Amino acid sequence: MVNSSEKPVVLITGASSGIGDAIARKFAKQGWRIVAVARRQQRLEQLRQELADITDVEFLVADVTEKDAPKRAVDLALSAFGRLDCLVNNAGAGKWAAPGETDDATIDEVLNISLKAPFRFARESLRAMKSGSSIINIGSVFGLLGGMDGGIYCTAKAGMIGMSQAFAVQYGAKGIRSNVVAPGVVKTEMTAAAWDFPGFQRTNQELTPFNRDGTVEDVANTVFFLASQEGSYINGQTIALDGGWSTTKYVTPEALICERVMPK
Ligand SMILES: NC(=O)c1ccc[n+]([C@@H]2O[C@H](COP(=O)([O-])OP(=O)(O)OC[C@H]3O[C@@H](n4cnc5c(N)ncnc54)[C@H](OP(=O)(O)O)[C@@H]3O)[C@@H](O)[C@H]2O)c1
Repeated sequence: MVNSSEKPVVLITGASSGIGDAIARKFAKQGWRIVAVARRQQRLEQLRQELADITDVEFLVADVTEKDAPKRAVDLALSAFGRLDCLVNNAGAGKWAAPGETDDATIDEVLNISLKAPFRFARESLRAMKSGSSIINIGSVFGLLGGMDGGIYCTAKAGMIGMSQAFAVQYGAKGIRSNVVAPGVVKTEMTAAAWDFPGFQRTNQELTPFNRDGTVEDVANTVFFLASQEGSYINGQTIALDGGWSTTKYVTPEALICERVMPK
């Protein structure tokens, strides 16, 4: 039987919904203890209750952009569990606008949530991490390819890849790895409103050479693999989790013959 102090600990930002919630459930089922961070206390409380039978969950209600949030989160991991084995930088939010129409407030907001906060959480986690630990950053295929109206979101997610590689090269020799998982479109609160819109389906589902949509569980499984012993020689990589969307020029036959693509 595993002594509870030997159970690994993962800190997940944005664990109150979507991909972060699925990551917390995956790690919990694999015997990890969880530190969950987000702004919605009720969701975090619910997560803790739902996982109570299988693992210990501590949560911090905080905005990841708050200056002291990384320190408070790492302090919580150490005070509650005495260790930190994995950081999942997952909290993020999209703001959609053409680069030429992106105002300063939006630039600051998106960079703060999706680039500066992950950097600061990763930096803070280093003081608690030992050899065998890892940092996993949830990027996006929009950080690999430009996307219409993705301007500042593409910029932040591309920056996250550089950040992850910088941590990988600096701390890999100490046994601390850093990688990015870059999902394509997955149905969550972030995308729900657009999901049934034909233009959205055309850009995503009809350009994906696979016979189903990606799920939050797909992302969670890949994140867990990277954190586990099985993934322990992977460092500085970005794994696109998109059914082949970003690496092919696939178009469904139906989309190819659609009159919308014919010249008027
Ligand atoms: N869904 C997709 O298609 C997709 C594709 C590629 C990449 N991603 C990335 O995946 C990650 C998770 O997104 P999701 O799709 O799961 O969206 P979601 O369901 O909207 O979840 C976003 C999470 O981030 C948290 N969050 C947002 N801003 C925060 C802040 N300032 N402080 C603390 N927590 C904050 C939210 O928690 P609270 O609101 O409770 O604070 C929530 O838990 C994001 O980084 C996103 O860019 C998503």
